[in-house]
Amino acid sequence: MKSILVTGASRGIGSAITRLFAQNGWRVFACARHIQSLMQICQELPSVYPVSCDLARPEEIDRLFEIIHESCPALDAVVNNAGVSYIGLIQDMSVDDWDRLMQVNLRAPFLVTKAALPGMIQRKSGCIVNISSMWGTYGASMEAAYSASKGGLNAFTKALARELAPSGIRVNAIAAGAIDTSMNAFLSPEERSMLEDSIGLGRLGRPEEAADLVFYLCSEKSSYLSGAVIPLDGAY
Ligand SMILES: NC(=O)c1ccc[n+]([C@@H]2O[C@H](COP(=O)([O-])OP(=O)(O)OC[C@H]3O[C@@H](n4cnc5c(N)ncnc54)[C@H](OP(=O)(O)O)[C@@H]3O)[C@@H](O)[C@H]2O)c1
Repeated sequence: MKSILVTGASRGIGSAITRLFAQNGWRVFACARHIQSLMQICQELPSVYPVSCDLARPEEIDRLFEIIHESCPALDAVVNNAGVSYIGLIQDMSVDDWDRLMQVNLRAPFLVTKAALPGMIQRKSGCIVNISSMWGTYGASMEAAYSASKGGLNAFTKALARELAPSGIRVNAIAAGAIDTSMNAFLSPEERSMLEDSIGLGRLGRPEEAADLVFYLCSEKSSYLSGAVIPLDGAY
């Protein structure tokens, strides 16, 4: 049975990824701070193992990998999906706000990837998928820190793909557009309608559509794809 770690698995895109992989016979280590919703998923899909972890705390990431390594010495895939947003003027953003966002969006993918690598390198195989954003490419007004974190994640992806290719490990990112999750729940009906008008396909993406792309990126069907930052934005 193949094993995957999905961060930010408690809702939204991470929850859809967790379900899809478990439905396809993978063992899924599903991490988030609040794992109540994951308890429900694992009753339905027993190959889901919920692990509570605050990715902003390096010691909790160490503990997460202690738990994983008790039953799984090497993961087949890692999805760095957990992320937080901050919307506001840059001059109103405190150093603490900046640090918290970077800890989850950029430092955690580094620490999680680092912890997963020894097993993957030993087996000379593995897939890493980073869930990034179109704002990492274009930059969004009022979201400078978020955009910087995702731009950093894109560069991390490309650099790591080259570094890890000799070890048989592929690294890719998905530059998601607007996906219909709680991250966009703050939008008023008018704002949501304006957003939909700015998207070529005229609607937000579904978390399951992101999960399908992650599944492809972790399969042999994408065996020559590495170092890519793939837009999934409905032609924004
Ligand atoms: N939705 C969009 O429009 C969109 C667009 C582009 C990119 N993305 C990216 O896609 C990813 C998933 O977003 P989403 O829309 O599914 O967001 P979401 O519904 O808000 O879910 C975020 C997930 O991250 C987890 N998380 C947040 N802080 C964490 C922490 N400190 N430690 C561990 N887990 C943490 C949350 O779980 P807990 O709160 O339980 O910890 C939750 O499971 C993010 O990286 C986001 O930046 C989303």
